[in-house]
Amino acid sequence: MNLPAPRRVVLDTDPGIDDALAILLALASPEVDLAALSIVHGNCTLAEAVTNALALAELGSRPDLVVAAGCDRPLLRPPVTAHDTHGTSGLGYARLPRGAAQAVEEHAVELLIREIMAAPGEVTLVAVGPLTNVALALRKEPRLARAVRECIFMGGAFRAEGNITPLAEFNVYADPHAAQIVLSSGMPLTIMPWDITRDVRLTLADVERLLARGGPIPRFIAEATRYYIEFHQREFGWAGCSINDPAALALAWWPDLAQMRDLYVEVELASELTLGKTVGDSGGRSGRAPNVRLVERFDATTFVARFLQRMEDLADRLAA
Ligand code: BDR
Ligand code: CA
Repeated sequence: MNLPAPRRVVLDTDPGIDDALAILLALASPEVDLAALSIVHGNCTLAEAVTNALALAELGSRPDLVVAAGCDRPLLRPPVTAHDTHGTSGLGYARLPRGAAQAVEEHAVELLIREIMAAPGEVTLVAVGPLTNVALALRKEPRLARAVRECIFMGGAFRAEGNITPLAEFNVYADPHAAQIVLSSGMPLTIMPWDITRDVRLTLADVERLLARGGPIPRFIAEATRYYIEFHQREFGWAGCSINDPAALALAWWPDLAQMRDLYVEVELASELTLGKTVGDSGGRSGRAPNVRLVERFDATTFVARFLQRMEDLADRLAA
C-alpha cells in the first residue's frame, strides 16, 4: 500500500511543556516531515525556549533538526512569560542534558519565509506560541499568506473565559498585535482555541501507562507533566493537564477529529481590560467575510489515545 507523502511542517513554538509534547508528537508521526522549529518568546524567554528546543531534538534522536531563534519580545507590548505554568526552565521538573547542537544562524522570520516560499502550497505552518515571528514574516514577505498551504494556530478563547486575563488566552495576549496582523493577512487560518484544548487532558494514569514502557521519553514526559498537572490542579482543580499544542498540531493530518466553522475573528487591541480577547462574529453582524476556520468540537478521547500510542511507539523506536 502506498502511503501519502508526509506533510512538510514548520512548527513555530515557545517550549513550554505542551510545546515539548507537540515536538515529540511531530517526531513520532510518519505523516509529518518536520522541516524546522522556529522559536519565539512566550512561555519562557527566547533563550530558554531555544535551549529547550535543542534539548528536545536531542531527546528525540534528531540532533540534526533545524532550530532557528526568532523574536525575543512582542511587537509593541512588554513581554509576558508563563513560568508559573511551565516551571523555571520551561519544562516543569524535567532537566534535559544539553547536546552539542546549536541553533542555526538564520533568524526564524527568515526561515519561515524561505521554507514557505520555496514550495508554494506545500508547507503547513503550525504556530503554538505568540504570533510575533509569523506576523513579522508576513510584513516582510506578504506573499507568504498565499504561499502557505495552511496555518494552524493554537490560541484564543471564544466560548470560555481566558487563561491569562479574565477574557484573553495566553498566546494571543502575549502578542495581540501580531495576532491581529495574522488574522487580517488573508492566510488560510485554522484556529484551535483554548476552550477546546483545555478539555484535551493527560492524566496521571496516562503518564503511569507511559512510564511502564521505560526509557528517556516516558521519563521526560512524566517529569515535565508532573509540574504541569500540579499547576492545573492548583489553578483549575482539574486532575490532569491540558495538552493544547499537540492537539493543534494533529489537525495537520487528523482533521477528521475536529468539527469546524468559518468565522470572522478580530483581536481586541484598545482596551486594557479585555486586551487580547478574540472576538468571533458568530451573528454575522460585521458583514465581514470569514477569515478563520474555528475548531468548535474535537474528539479528545480518540486524540489522547492516539497521542499515547505515538509516544509509546517513539519510546520503543528509540530503545531499539
Ligand atoms: C497556550 O499557552 C501556552 O502556555 C501553551 O504552551 C499553549 O500554547 C495555551 O493557552
Ligand atoms: Ca505553546
